[in-house]
Amino acid sequence: MQGRRRARASLYERLGEDFFVGLVERFYDGVEGDPVLRPLYPADLTASRRHLALFLVQYFGGPASYNALRGHPRLRMRHFRFGIGPAERDAWLRHMTEAVRSYGREPADEEELLSYFSSTAAMLTSSPTTT
Ligand code: HEM
Repeated sequence: MQGRRRARASLYERLGEDFFVGLVERFYDGVEGDPVLRPLYPADLTASRRHLALFLVQYFGGPASYNALRGHPRLRMRHFRFGIGPAERDAWLRHMTEAVRSYGREPADEEELLSYFSSTAAMLTSSPTTT
């Protein structure tokens, strides 16, 4: 997987650190006003913003600062307690999709970001039949 991504410049190399920091800023600006998502997050979103930005930088080929600060991501475990259902998933993806599209980057880069977000969000969502 890593090898495949290395075959050409990583998204981190193509888009740069500032892109990911800015993307997370825009995403959380959406979360801040969202009645479904806002209650799941802490009152102060400073650390939340930082953690997600570091995670994305690391995932898309940049420095592994997220792991150094937070340890292994274990996303499924870290999200379990939020009981994410379809409504939360859709709201999260809507804000992230808007944030990604707001940059007007190359379609292939947008696609790579959005397909990762949608498959990961699906992985973190509990079955709708369990509620
Ligand atoms: C499906 C809808 C999702 C919801 C409702 C959700 C919600 C949350 C919440 C409430 C937190 C805790 C924030 C905090 O305590 O500061 C969090 C943390 C985090 N989320 Fe999500 N999330 C979702 C999807 C995703 C996806 C798709 C990714 C991967 C790109 C992701 C990556 C992260 C990361 C890296 C953290 C920080 C973990 C840490 O170091 O504590 N989340 N998320």
